[in-house]
Amino acid sequence: MNYAKKSIEDIGTAGKKVLVRCDFNVPQDENGEITADTRIVGALPTIKYLADKGAKIILCSHLGRPKGKVDPKYSLKPVAERLSALLGKTVALAADVVGEDAKAKAAALKDGDIMLLENVRFHAEEEKNDPAFAKELASLAEIYVNDAFGTAHRAHASTAGVADYLPAVCGFLIQKEIGIMGKALEDPKRPFVAVLGGAKVSDKIGVIKNLILKCDTIIIGGAMAYTFKKAAGRNIGTSRFEEDKLDYAREVMVRAVGMGVGFMLPIDHVCADHFGEDATPVPCKHIAEGMMGLDIGPKTVEKYSAALKNAGTVVWNGPMGVFEIPAFAEGTKAIAKAIAESDAVSIIGGGDSAAAVEQLGFADKMTHISTGGGASLEFLEGLELPGIACLLDK
Ligand code: 3PG
Repeated sequence: MNYAKKSIEDIGTAGKKVLVRCDFNVPQDENGEITADTRIVGALPTIKYLADKGAKIILCSHLGRPKGKVDPKYSLKPVAERLSALLGKTVALAADVVGEDAKAKAAALKDGDIMLLENVRFHAEEEKNDPAFAKELASLAEIYVNDAFGTAHRAHASTAGVADYLPAVCGFLIQKEIGIMGKALEDPKRPFVAVLGGAKVSDKIGVIKNLILKCDTIIIGGAMAYTFKKAAGRNIGTSRFEEDKLDYAREVMVRAVGMGVGFMLPIDHVCADHFGEDATPVPCKHIAEGMMGLDIGPKTVEKYSAALKNAGTVVWNGPMGVFEIPAFAEGTKAIAKAIAESDAVSIIGGGDSAAAVEQLGFADKMTHISTGGGASLEFLEGLELPGIACLLDK
């Protein structure tokens, strides 16, 4: 994929109506309160830049999965309120996406004004990337800016389709995401170490396939380590593993040896006799019958931390254990700390790993925390992201 895309700095936006696709798909509690506004904050540089240039800004986003129907639960109202507070100026929310209110509000915008359309997924045409819907959305503006990295892996009307009808460039958030992650994939500072965790090997097959070609060392944690351990003939007790991925796991380990890529698996564990908040953590070197591994052990932490200490670039995706339960969070915490303390360019994939780093207080020690979960994974897999591919090349 070509990462050299035109940005808002390469196009005249003064006095122009600019449609900006953001990823305001933020987590909310049961009362609809936003619980983390990282994605809103991440979009501010682009919005402020355009406002300073005197553009007429029409923001749009999805929130949740309302399945093509208007559902007040998924209204962008809380986002408009948070944005207004962060910007210190009112961001008017349209009552619809391409209806009368959106059109009237867009037509009335003055230079530097900012409005937000309602949830684009209130229309089923959005996820179908319906050309007529994309054209209607595009008709609100003269320029399209995609800054929704978190949704760049979706070929939807507002993330890709509109680019057929308007000159399309990226905002600063996408520019930063593809700049840092693109460099790591194409020309990393070495040694390049990937830390991959999470529950399933099957979720990470694409990433492992791509990163094994680029990395010097791959570090494995999380439940997916047990699929590799079992494939290597180890006793894993009742630990979670994927039977149908054992052959693949064996293949990966043989390939890593053949390519001279370091492939590290846990050498000790924190086990329990069952999974749950009430489970008693038992550190062990070998997993006994009836026990399951729920975190990496202290010796593994030592070994992994040593590899991370000298790294030039680190990409981390997926926790090392069940970090939601404090008794099994130590491994993830220690790895976050080791990455934070190394001098490496540190890139944290979105989703769980980003949440872990933020929760543990290491966010400001990392070079880059991606705002995309699925999108950063697909990016690291080396796949073409439709929301980026549709933008004008430099
Ligand atoms: C995300 O949160 O990963 C993005 O906003 C994409 O959301 P989606 O998985 O519903 O398309």
